[in-house]
Amino acid sequence: MSDRIPIAGPSITQREIDCATDAAANGWYERAGEYPRRFEKSFAEYIGVKHAVSLPSCTSGLHLALAGLSIGPGDEVIVPDLTWIASAAPITYVGATVVFADIDECTWCLDAESVRACITENTKAILPVDLYGGVPDYTALRAIADEHGLKIIEDAAEAIGSEFDGRKAGSLGDVATFSFHGSKTFTTGEGGMLVTDDDELHARVMQLRDHGREPGDIQFKNTEVAFKYKMPPVAAAIGLAQVERAEELVARKRETFEWYREALADVEGITLNHEPANTKNTFWMVTAVLDPMLEWPKEKLMVAFDAEGIDSRPMFHPISSLPAYDGQAEAAVARKRNAVSYRLSPWGINLPSAMNLTYEQVQRVAETLRRILGLS
Ligand SMILES: Cc1ncc(COP(=O)(O)O)c(C=O)c1O
Repeated sequence: MSDRIPIAGPSITQREIDCATDAAANGWYERAGEYPRRFEKSFAEYIGVKHAVSLPSCTSGLHLALAGLSIGPGDEVIVPDLTWIASAAPITYVGATVVFADIDECTWCLDAESVRACITENTKAILPVDLYGGVPDYTALRAIADEHGLKIIEDAAEAIGSEFDGRKAGSLGDVATFSFHGSKTFTTGEGGMLVTDDDELHARVMQLRDHGREPGDIQFKNTEVAFKYKMPPVAAAIGLAQVERAEELVARKRETFEWYREALADVEGITLNHEPANTKNTFWMVTAVLDPMLEWPKEKLMVAFDAEGIDSRPMFHPISSLPAYDGQAEAAVARKRNAVSYRLSPWGINLPSAMNLTYEQVQRVAETLRRILGLS
């Protein structure tokens, strides 16, 4: 077995294998659809929401949330600049305009004051991201949303099990989406879930995700042109087993972070993920932001880790800086405005955070980092 340390990967037990095998062998005829239904029910219970809709990805969930809220051309949606492009791309799918707001220095999530400054008469929704398992200040974001009549679409892709004021990530927006990509805390290989307490939005999403068939339609009479977004049953079976292990999987993430925190506690100039007092961070990716004085920008640090057999990833680039947004007016404004995103991103690196990472591997990463920085 390679002694290379991977950046991410799931925890799969006999339970996942048994469920997937049963779905593949028996999930047809009278049992067709059983695993997606069971996965949705147990996931909704776990998050504490009324409805959960299993999907092929989180990206499709964000697309459905936006389309379900009738957001389209002429509308603006505010996203944090520092996130994965999947948070913003669906805004473009529905023809609306992406507005990039800055992040908070400590949580690395959407900053409420920056959101306030981005609001115009065209703003329809705020799309906060629970970055790397951390959460933004939802009290402040909800106050702004209420004041301006905006919806909150929570991108909880990276935050399964995280909490704000005792409420789980996914229950903090009007609608929220999760990712079960192979790198995530729960996996189904590829997959996603949309969750909401809103009956009307749920009904709309169910129609949009099934080629515009009204719920209960058995005559195959589509009433509009829409999408086809469903999770395959074998994937849902793996997801069901992962929810059953929710406490264990989330505890594992927190334990890994704690190992890193202890191992790097005495290294000056490194800031790891933050956990404000009223929140629970599930540390999807343990992330280190280095003091620029150390003179180790993320790209250079990744090359050095790679030479030592350690995989890493760059902290997200501000999405307004990506070539994908060249020539877009909102991106040009954001490049000048979002000082915190642009200041932190060059110095941030995701450290190995796989579900099966061992204590010894974390010690190796920490020792390697010290050596690279010239501290040992
Ligand atoms: C913040 C964020 N949003 C959305 C997504 C998209 O998830 P998926 O790949 O399941 O579409 C991801 C996945 O990497 C993500 O990290």
